[in-house]
Amino acid sequence: MQITIRPMETSDVGTVVQGWNCSLVHNQVSAERFEDVIPNDPNHEKNASLVAVHDGKIIGLVSAVAREGVLGADNKGRPNEVDRGYIRGIFVLEEFRRQGIGTKLLNEAAKYLRSKGKSSIWVTVYTGGYFFPGVDLRYEAGVKFFENSGFRRDHVINDLDLDLTNLRISEYQKNARRRMADFGAHVEDYDPSMLDRMRIFVGKANITTWFPEGWEDRFRKSGNKVVAIKDEDIIGWASYSPRAGTAGFGPIAVLGEMRGHGIGSCLLLECVLQMKDAGAEKVIASWANTPFYLPNGWKICRQYVVFEKGV
Ligand SMILES: CC(C)(COP(=O)(O)OP(=O)(O)OC[C@H]1O[C@@H](n2cnc3c(N)ncnc32)[C@H](O)[C@@H]1OP(=O)(O)O)[C@@H](O)C(=O)NCCC(=O)NCCS
Repeated sequence: MQITIRPMETSDVGTVVQGWNCSLVHNQVSAERFEDVIPNDPNHEKNASLVAVHDGKIIGLVSAVAREGVLGADNKGRPNEVDRGYIRGIFVLEEFRRQGIGTKLLNEAAKYLRSKGKSSIWVTVYTGGYFFPGVDLRYEAGVKFFENSGFRRDHVINDLDLDLTNLRISEYQKNARRRMADFGAHVEDYDPSMLDRMRIFVGKANITTWFPEGWEDRFRKSGNKVVAIKDEDIIGWASYSPRAGTAGFGPIAVLGEMRGHGIGSCLLLECVLQMKDAGAEKVIASWANTPFYLPNGWKICRQYVVFEKGV
């Protein structure tokens, strides 16, 4: 079968999104979201997203990304990630599978990543624009494909959710509130007048992924953010995305030396209560720190395996 692999063009997006939605059934996307995540990612380069064409028809896609230097164009990279390239997604239309087309796409993506000086490919754990943090275990063909292409399973990532329709404050959460109060800390809504204190928190927390250059813009207004305060200092923070139906929680961080006093659980609970007040029935935390959420009553709702291979 005659297959051409070529860079994806802007005019391909409509067809690619159709193929994506038929193939990646657990990750339906709109053209707008697809454009946000792939072509509009500051680290995106034309040769990184490739389509497979047969008889003039697009039958597959691979989207790779190589963050250049340590920080990359999105300022979100970390020193230990400098050698990593990423596969953000791959599909081949069902009727064209098991004919080596996925392998061809993957090999071309690997060639691109090598040309950028990358020595390993990760699927995905990319902290720029992403659709999923790893391969959803329900994609059986996808999991087999990466395993049989020489990738190793690095770890599993979970999404967790919480039903808000019968929300009750548990003994565990009441205890967290007592422990936080005994420690002399409390939780309140973030207000832009706290920006200077937030800057000090961000400096101490040192999490470039969540606070890339320009992060202050999001903190010049209030809403959807709470902070934990002790002795006037911000020692923890959490954000959420309120939506009627299913809301999103995260990120959340408590300074290392302030952990173990129930502060994270109290930040989480305050956000949950605010999301419920705003009309949400369920909340999801994606790519979440499972042992923190489980005792707070959350449940694992989705699992992804992270694959890695040297190139
Ligand atoms: C994963 C996917 C891209 C593979 O495309 P493909 O063109 O079928 O891949 P290849 O033909 O190159 O397969 C290479 C090898 O992977 C393995 N493989 C692929 N699909 C498999 C399946 N359904 N069952 C078992 N092994 C499979 C086989 O070892 C295969 O070699 P073989 O056919 O000689 O046995 C395709 O199945 C797909 O689009 N799936 C849905 C999207 C998805 O899950 N993407 C991964 C998440 S990003």
